[in-house]
Amino acid sequence: MSYEITITSTLTRHQQREVAEIYYDSFKIKFSKLWLFTKNKGLAIDVLSQSIDFRTGLYAIKDKEVIGFIGLETVGSIYTKLRFSLLTKVFGFFGGLWRTAGYLIYRAFQGRIGEDEMHIDPIAVSEKARGLGVGTKLLDASLALAKSLGKKKMTLEVVDTNPEAKKLYERKGFVVTKIEKTGYLTSLAGFTKVVHMRKVIE
Ligand SMILES: CC(C)(COP(=O)(O)OP(=O)(O)OC[C@H]1O[C@@H](n2cnc3c(N)ncnc32)[C@H](O)[C@@H]1OP(=O)(O)O)[C@@H](O)C(=O)NCCC(=O)NCCS
Repeated sequence: MSYEITITSTLTRHQQREVAEIYYDSFKIKFSKLWLFTKNKGLAIDVLSQSIDFRTGLYAIKDKEVIGFIGLETVGSIYTKLRFSLLTKVFGFFGGLWRTAGYLIYRAFQGRIGEDEMHIDPIAVSEKARGLGVGTKLLDASLALAKSLGKKKMTLEVVDTNPEAKKLYERKGFVVTKIEKTGYLTSLAGFTKVVHMRKVIE
């Protein structure tokens, strides 16, 4: 029996917090060692809830609860934008300054998004719902959306230590276009290479 979900682009305020929670839980190491540099889950969820442009994502809903989401970026629209003003408000001036720098370095690895491109960042499914086809449905809905907008390619990045996610993307027709060494700093967050992948939209 297939796992029944609906895919939507609009959320209630409560559901937005559910997204931030799945985001944090799925990328704990990234948020503690590469981005927000905090292990305080409540604080991270507060910051994320205020930093996400929820309009640029798609959401998998089961019984009114968000169980997965995908951030879809196009020219000029970023899904998660960590702003200096918010980071300094939460972490103080210097705490905000170096966190902003860390975030900008992360963004620099992603390159520019082309006019004909839709870029995925991030995709995550709540731990309890993984392996049930939710990620596949989010990818399918995103590819259909990209096609309806006239986009010609879908791109994403996956780290070298996440072969399961890479396998899923390959199954959906993504191919590796570049493997980038990221070095010492990211090794603290558990990876040393970023794999760039692309799918041509027919
Ligand atoms: C990667 C992820 C979004 C896939 O969503 P999903 O709903 O579990 O995926 P589906 O059920 O549609 O597809 C399952 C496939 O996903 C892959 N997969 C990746 N992580 C998995 C996990 N923890 N559990 C089950 N499958 C996983 C497997 O390749 C699996 O293939 P299989 O069915 O042939 O075994 C989800 O596992 C997740 O949120 N992981 C943590 C966050 C993450 O790594 N995001 C990707 C960053 S690039």
